[in-house]
Amino acid sequence: MEDYSQPVLAGDAASDYERYLNTEELLKLQKTADEWVHRDELLFQVTHQSSELWLKLAWNDADEAARLVEEGDVQAALRLLDRAALCIRFLVQQLDMLERMSPWEYQEIRKVLGHGSGFDSPGWNELRKVLPRLGQAFHAARRAEGLSVRDVYVRGREHEDLYRLAEALIELDEQAQLWRMRHYQTVARVIGDKVVGTQGTPVELLGRLITKTSFPELWEVRNDLTALSKEEDAGEG
Ligand code: HEM
Repeated sequence: MEDYSQPVLAGDAASDYERYLNTEELLKLQKTADEWVHRDELLFQVTHQSSELWLKLAWNDADEAARLVEEGDVQAALRLLDRAALCIRFLVQQLDMLERMSPWEYQEIRKVLGHGSGFDSPGWNELRKVLPRLGQAFHAARRAEGLSVRDVYVRGREHEDLYRLAEALIELDEQAQLWRMRHYQTVARVIGDKVVGTQGTPVELLGRLITKTSFPELWEVRNDLTALSKEEDAGEG
């Protein structure tokens, strides 16, 4: 009879759970209690490190989705785009945790961050690189059907896949924008909205980045649709 209590995977850790997940290495990635300048460094590192992991999943799924759209498999891409958007939702929620820190005590932690800045977040930067590729894949797919962005919406029922793809992209864009808004609020609540970040960026600039979108034509088409509907009403009247 198989002894289920014994690990079978390669490695030195006591169990297969620890071997498969590399828990020993993973749990060593945070400062130890004797290295903390403040005990909330654990909260700060855990929130940032887990955000990086969700971002890693988000951009990998978005990257694969772009490849699938390029190959013409929109259904398979949709499944991954839904997951990527959910990753960003998790990121938004995690910001709540940072607001549990005292803004005064956080100043102690800030002193040990060096020039560390979210602008150097590998996950966020990879995601920002992948999104334009997704946009190009969508536009190539709709052009191949001879459709404008407006047609994808007006004739969305005839082109279910493209309509859903457009909506999946705007969902991703909306989540990224929500993250930026929420992050701005967190920053304002923790360090203030009239100060300069650890890399010299004024927090006001973060406020301005909120309006940035990756698929502007998908937002713009909403204006077209409203105008088109008005024109049609005027034509009928
Ligand atoms: C106490 C919490 C936080 C503070 C005070 C804070 C502060 C800042 C500041 C001041 C900037 C502007 C750049 C600079 O000069 O540093 C920034 C940018 C950024 N931060 Fe944070 N941040 C916090 C939490 C987070 C978390 C949890 C993440 C998760 C990954 C994150 C990711 C980013 C990213 C990606 C940017 C670039 C923004 C963009 O490109 O729109 N930050 N942050």
